[in-house]
Amino acid sequence: GFEVELMLSGRTVTVPPGQSILQAVTAAGVQVLSSCEEGTCGTCETPVLGGTVDHRDSLLTADEQAANDTMMICVSRASCPRLTLEL
Ligand code: FES
Repeated sequence: GFEVELMLSGRTVTVPPGQSILQAVTAAGVQVLSSCEEGTCGTCETPVLGGTVDHRDSLLTADEQAANDTMMICVSRASCPRLTLEL
């Protein structure tokens, strides 16, 4: 698992294996728009402020993924202990 710091909400949530960031954030009471939950629609796209993303969506180009400044939180995860998101 890893931690996600929600900069706008002033909260940090733990994302265990088997749970998505979207699920963990929603369970913490923070509202996020979502639709497909499969990394294909872009509804849950969220700005990344810190940490390194393990991109698993099928929307961002390789260049966009490498830029590490946005992510689809329904499927993508962290490849570091802590991500900071603009949520
Ligand atoms: Fe569709 Fe995340 S909800 S890409």
